[in-house]
Amino acid sequence: MSESNEQNSYLLGVNQQELERLQFQHTVWGHVTKKFLGRLNVGKGWRCLDVGAGPGFVSMELRELVGETGEVTALDPSQFYLEWLKKQVSNKGWANVHCVQGTAESADLPSQYYDLIFVRWVIAFVPDPEKFLIPLFSFLRTGGILAIQDYYYEGLSLFPRGGPWDVMADIVRAYYRFGGGDAYIAATIPTIFRKHGLNVVDFTPTCLSGGPTSGVMEWAHRFFSTHVPLMAQKGLISSEQAEALMADWNAHRQNPDALFFSPLVVDIAGSRSR
Ligand SMILES: C[S@@+](CC[C@H](N)C(=O)[O-])C[C@H]1O[C@@H](n2cnc3c(N)ncnc32)[C@H](O)[C@@H]1O
Repeated sequence: MSESNEQNSYLLGVNQQELERLQFQHTVWGHVTKKFLGRLNVGKGWRCLDVGAGPGFVSMELRELVGETGEVTALDPSQFYLEWLKKQVSNKGWANVHCVQGTAESADLPSQYYDLIFVRWVIAFVPDPEKFLIPLFSFLRTGGILAIQDYYYEGLSLFPRGGPWDVMADIVRAYYRFGGGDAYIAATIPTIFRKHGLNVVDFTPTCLSGGPTSGVMEWAHRFFSTHVPLMAQKGLISSEQAEALMADWNAHRQNPDALFFSPLVVDIAGSRSR
């Protein structure tokens, strides 16, 4: 499937620019993911499933950890992203990274098989998180871990405050709702885990912060400069508000004393007890 045919399948779209944004995102947030994987003791020989893998930045981290004796399956609906990952895997000469096209809700994968299932920045976009998670619970072996990294969309802030940007978090939360998702998804996961017999073994929120030359502010710029105009196109905000938001944002980018605070990204892990 070409990237343009996949455009409408989920809120952030599937295209080369978004692939590059995800790649940059991993350079900014990858250390948070790696620390989480370290706390989970992911090691040689593990069987891992990366759900909503996109171009596979987490899949590749997992492959580094599980080595030749483990295996990694990258599951994503986007053929465009999976083709890109297949090229990286082939360049590295890895024989144990598998790419499967499909969704969490409909994938045909082995039951009670995986030591770890990882889901980064996916579940906030899906309309029914429990329907998304139930098949994943069945793919986990007893004692296996389901690990999620996603938003609790509080904390987003631009300092100095006082401009149009102060309401940005509300707008982004509405954008997620517009796409059928939930920007507060992280807080709902422990309840779902408990209901399905998983013990919550990790719940760790992270906020990154930095000024105009920081990676985290550039990461935010790549999101807002693309998505604020789209929010206006979709009618969530007026074009005047979009212009005012971007003018405020760009003024902060020119101010060496400005600070950006990211929304909270929460690491959540549940261990399957039965
Ligand atoms: C924001 S990207 C995150 C990609 C990757 N996990 C990362 O952290 O770089 C979200 C991904 O979720 C995928 N996705 C959306 N709905 C999905 C579903 N129902 N099941 C599996 N993947 C899905 C999209 O195709 C996209 O690649």
